[in-house]
Amino acid sequence: MSNMRTQLSFTTLAGIETELLAVLAVDTQTAKGSDAKAEPVLLTTDSAVKAAAAAAIASGEYKAGAHETLLLHAPAGLTAKRLLIVGLGKTAKVTVHSVRAAAGAAVRFTKPRGIRELAFALPESELLAAGPSVRAAIEGAFVGDFDPDTYRSDRQDQSVQSFTLVVPEDRDKAVIQSAFTEGAIVGESQNFTRSLVNEPGNKLTPTVLGQRAAMMAAEVGLKWTISSTEMLKELKMGAFWSVAQGSEEPPALIVLRYEPEGVSKGPLLGLVGKGITFDSGGISIKPSENMEKMKYDMAGGAAVIGAMRAIALLKPKVRVIAVVCAAENMPDGKAQKPGDVQTAMPFSAEKPGKTIEIVNTDAEGRLVLADGLTYARQLGATHLIDAATLTGACVTALGHTNAGVFSNDEAIFDKFNAALATSGEKFWRLPLGEEYAEQIKSDIGDIKNTAGRWGGACTAAEFLKVFVEETPWIHLDIAGMAWVEDAKPHIAKGPSGVAVRSILEWVRSF
Ligand code: BES
Ligand code: MN
Ligand code: ZN
Repeated sequence: MSNMRTQLSFTTLAGIETELLAVLAVDTQTAKGSDAKAEPVLLTTDSAVKAAAAAAIASGEYKAGAHETLLLHAPAGLTAKRLLIVGLGKTAKVTVHSVRAAAGAAVRFTKPRGIRELAFALPESELLAAGPSVRAAIEGAFVGDFDPDTYRSDRQDQSVQSFTLVVPEDRDKAVIQSAFTEGAIVGESQNFTRSLVNEPGNKLTPTVLGQRAAMMAAEVGLKWTISSTEMLKELKMGAFWSVAQGSEEPPALIVLRYEPEGVSKGPLLGLVGKGITFDSGGISIKPSENMEKMKYDMAGGAAVIGAMRAIALLKPKVRVIAVVCAAENMPDGKAQKPGDVQTAMPFSAEKPGKTIEIVNTDAEGRLVLADGLTYARQLGATHLIDAATLTGACVTALGHTNAGVFSNDEAIFDKFNAALATSGEKFWRLPLGEEYAEQIKSDIGDIKNTAGRWGGACTAAEFLKVFVEETPWIHLDIAGMAWVEDAKPHIAKGPSGVAVRSILEWVRSF
């Protein structure tokens, strides 16, 4: 993981000794139209910094657009060797999420230049509350520091070694300190998830994913159990096993528990993740173009594991259990076939499991989740949230801009929506409905695992709902958001760690 040291400094900017001091700027121009001249303003009250940047700002070359950077060497009157101005864009659009991205952009500006240390000035603006800005800046710095090139033999670790957040002296130190700690926990947890998602399928098998989760759990004080084929058989997880049966690699049923002291009643939140360490499609094999990307089909499971790390360290007063169903979806002599009928895990001894007609072996995520959701309920979950790279249809609908969210319960959906204001992640609600449920009825059994192409994200969600029954539930389809397709100023191309922050905030809202 990241070796970046982070620290707080309550001092004035002018005297800070650093290789690079980053300061934020906004464009205060309110007139619209292309001929309206940008009016950049630095978000600092430090007169030395303002003086050092005055000529550059006055030149009109720099517009303080989002992520727009300007580097000044040997800034006059400052101890810092370099002054970097990072733009947030138009004032009207500035939020704490712009600060997160700007901190990431500052780190990613620094990394390839061989500069290993920087200071980042907390923006001074009425628009930006100090606590949330501190948290966002630290999160953004960690997210920006991550690069996916871990298997390059000539890799030169260009990670930033030290990131100092400079905060004006008159700020409430207790508020700042706790926001700082929180930001580091969240940023590192998101990076932990990204490091798992980044691993190729041959390195990160279901077994290895289980080992990584267990190692993390031991480190942060979670309880855990990792089991495999025998346990799947014992629990009669026919849907989960039907995916795993076609691979030489045994599946892993990963269970993590967070049980805060003194909390023995009230809600028990169930986090369920799809952990397909490689999705070839199975017998309904995928086309080879882009198939290599299907190593990230465990991103939902990894997000759940990363969220549990943050939960263990932030200690909310609510019980949480995580169930991650990890398997490889492979074609083989023993693989399941289209037309096969599988029996999902029964919730109780009295009620048999639902029968599922397998129409397409590539619709495997919903199969492992079916049993994962049932198991979480059996373990006592009163509220459920699942995360999965579930459907290409969700990517078609929302692109790489929003992830999909579905819910059968307005109250917990509202909580999730509120969580997004803190996490800054983009999710768009998509519909469930009777008509979709109709489409997945099977002629031979209870339900089939796909109703075909149209409305594919919705029918997949309806499939999961069958196993949720009446439990309040949120389903996150992150297929289009778990992988950053093009490098951005604040985040590398590769695994995004999406959903970690939103799941965490949702949990903390109970
Ligand atoms: N893992 C895929 C979904 C996916 C697609 C994730 C693109 C990330 C990017 C999933 O298991 C899958 O194959 N879904 C099929 C379902 C279909 C066969 C009903 C799909 O969406 O095409
Ligand atoms: Mn698939
Ligand atoms: Zn899949």
